[in-house]
Formats: sequence, structure tokens, C-alpha cells
Amino acid sequence: VTTEAPSVGSSRTGILRSIGCLATPEAASSEPRVLRRAALVWRDGLVEWVGEEAALPEGLGLAETGYAQHEASGALVVPGLIDCHTHLAFGGWRADEFVERLKGTSYLEIARAGGGIARTVRQTRAASAGELYAKAAADLEAMRALGVTTVECKSGYGLSYEHELELLEVYRALASSQPSRIVPTLLAAHVVPAEHARDRDGYLRMVTERLIPEVARRGLARFCDVFVEDGAFSVEEARAVLRAGLGAGLAPKLHVDQLGGDLEGGGGASLAAEVQAASADHLEHVSERGIADLAEAGVVAVSLPIASAVLAQPMMPARRLLEAGVAVAVATDYNPGTAPSFDLHLAMWLACTVQRLAPAEVLRAVTLDAARALLLHDEIGSLEPGKVADFVLLDAPDLDHWLYHFRQRTVVETFVEGERVGCSAPERSH
Ligand code: NIG
Ligand code: FE
Repeated sequence: VTTEAPSVGSSRTGILRSIGCLATPEAASSEPRVLRRAALVWRDGLVEWVGEEAALPEGLGLAETGYAQHEASGALVVPGLIDCHTHLAFGGWRADEFVERLKGTSYLEIARAGGGIARTVRQTRAASAGELYAKAAADLEAMRALGVTTVECKSGYGLSYEHELELLEVYRALASSQPSRIVPTLLAAHVVPAEHARDRDGYLRMVTERLIPEVARRGLARFCDVFVEDGAFSVEEARAVLRAGLGAGLAPKLHVDQLGGDLEGGGGASLAAEVQAASADHLEHVSERGIADLAEAGVVAVSLPIASAVLAQPMMPARRLLEAGVAVAVATDYNPGTAPSFDLHLAMWLACTVQRLAPAEVLRAVTLDAARALLLHDEIGSLEPGKVADFVLLDAPDLDHWLYHFRQRTVVETFVEGERVGCSAPERSH
């Protein structure tokens, strides 16, 4: 097949040689593809060829035909990491609640006393759009330094018509100005805001009748998410919100079976199956019935081990879910309450050490299956011809060693759509 020569010097066309080890999940196999002494070739931001360097087709990837020349110098290369569950835009912090919980006070007790999500809502509303943007942009830069190239971003700390739209507009501004790929989610049904405490139906009507249509009209979100839990929303309320979202073209996602309160375990997971959600997230207390329903419906289970650790919850039974045939993704849940860290490497390490997933399973959980949780698995999540050239160079001999010898600053370079996006951003101190 002859293809048109790319314009010489196109910044999204290049070749990476001298890859020590390339590891990528593949859609067609549960085993990753692992190549030694590999090369990767991309053109106009899409992978064109990947294989052992010795097998590189003659004439492919030459500087004369416009391919920027890159050397991996023996690095490990994996697809760009995907954080498929974050609450990126929020105001303020809650370190005092972290310490209170360490002393034994529960998450729900703190929430009932006016802390928790409601407190972050107050602090988020008090922040300007510019402040929310600046903080989120700095966090995204630090996430790119960890090799994270795609970030799902939920609203849910505005909880009024205006404030939820404002948060989603912040994400739109980030999407158009940052190299990171942003996938926005409406989470207006996070909790009922204080001013609607005696009128939850009124709040839900605002969400389903006014907010969802406006979000869809402005094209501000891809997904609609609901927190199903004691103190948040019931299965019936969630069903109504998700159906309204579906009617407006927003695919469903759910926070379910997290705290294991009075709600029957599995109720949330079964709802996720019923509405064909793209993902069911948390699932610390998922029931056998819930697991079976997720498997049958092909819903991705998103584990959030940082949140489980912070709340001293058991972690999602990832092995049982995998054995039942459920795809498992891993994400940070970055938020100021239950997961005050955007370090996806930390979540991956917990998935290995606590959930007992092999490094290859964890890689898939933050790449191809995370992409599935975002309905983007045809575009991102693996290094195969035709997919987007998002990838990371890591200072490790192979995948097992990378997650075993856990340490800071293992990322050498991060590429989004074939372009280097830098990786040396120091983390902000707050
Ligand atoms: O995913 N579970 C609900 N929402 C967040 C926590 C939000 C917060 O405490 O601010 C979560 O864990
Ligand atoms: Fe969350």
C-alpha cells in the first residue's frame, strides 16, 4: 500500500527507536504484547507500525520523508495511561477530615456534620472559574509527568444549575488548551445540595428537566454519573437521572456499592447492568449477584484503590470480577475527600499489592480497559496501527520491574498524539 508522504517535519509524525521493552494490551487477547528491542512509528498522530526494530520495513520512518527521529535509549514503552475516574475541578482541601477519620470518625458521620462533599461544594462555589482552571491545569501537567494522557473529569461540586455548568465549562477550556485528553462527565447527582435538603425531588427535577438538556445542548459532557449510596441517591432516583441522561445522549456511569450501608449490596451494580452503563465504579461491597449482572451486561468495573485505602474499606474484589469475566479498570478517583492524590502509579501499585493483580493486568486496567470505561477503546488504550500515538517512556527494564521497584520519577517522556508533552513538571505544593 502506498501512502502519501507526510509533510516534512510534521510534529505528529515520527519514529521511536531503541525501545528496550514495549508492552501493550491488545483487544484480541487477554495477554499483553511484549516486544524487546522494538520500534514505534506514527504518522499524523496515529500509530503506523509497531514491532521489533530488526523487522522495521525498509524505508519506513526516515527523516527525509518527514519522520521526527526519537531514541528511547532502552526505555520501557507503554500506552499513555488513562485515569478514567477523577473529580479534578474542586476548591479547597479537607486534611482535617482525613485526620478525623484516622482517629475513627466515619466518612458518613463527617458528612452528616456538614463536612464531606457539602464542604467541598461550598469551597468550589466560592472559587472563581479562573482559580478552578489554574489548579486543574497544574494538576493535569503533573499527571502528564506521570504518563497520564487521558483524564475523565467529573463535575459534582457545583450542585446547582449554574455551578455545574461552570465546572463543565472549566473542563471544556482545559480540553482546548491542554495537551491532555479530557473526557467530561456530569455528576450533578453527587449528593442533594444543602439548599434542597427538604426538596430532593425539586433538585432532581432541576437536574433532569433543565440541567441535562442544557449540558447536552452545549455539548459539555459525554457521560452522566450518579452516586448511589446512603446519604446520596437511591437506585430509583439514579435510574431516573441516568434515563434522562441517556435520552439526551449522555452515556451512564455509576458510583456504586462503595460504603456498604443499608443499600442492598449489588443493587447499584445491577442498576449499572440494567442501564448498560459504560462503567460501575468503586464496588468495594459488590455482591455475587452484582458481579454476575455486570459480567452479563459487559459493564467495566472501575476500581479506585486509593479511595478504598483512605476510607479503610476493603478493596474491590478485582480477582473475582476478572474471573467472572468482568473487565476491570483502575483509576485514582482524585478528589479532596476520599482520594486526595492524582498519582495513578500509586493506584496501580495498590492494585498489585493489595488486590493481587499482576502488573500486566494492571497495565490493561489503566490503558485498554480504562479506555473501554470511557467508550474510547477503538481510539486509545493500546499501541496498535490506527490507534492514537499516546505513549510513555519509563526508566525500567520491563513492566514487572517497573511496578515492583516502586519509586518516584520513573517517567522519561510522555507523548500525546505523537508529540512530546514534557514530563518534568514539579508537583505544586499547596
Ligand atoms: O468517588 N463517592 C462519592 N464521591 C467521591 C467522594 C467525594 C468527596 O468525598 O468529596 C468518591 O469517593
Ligand atoms: Fe468518585
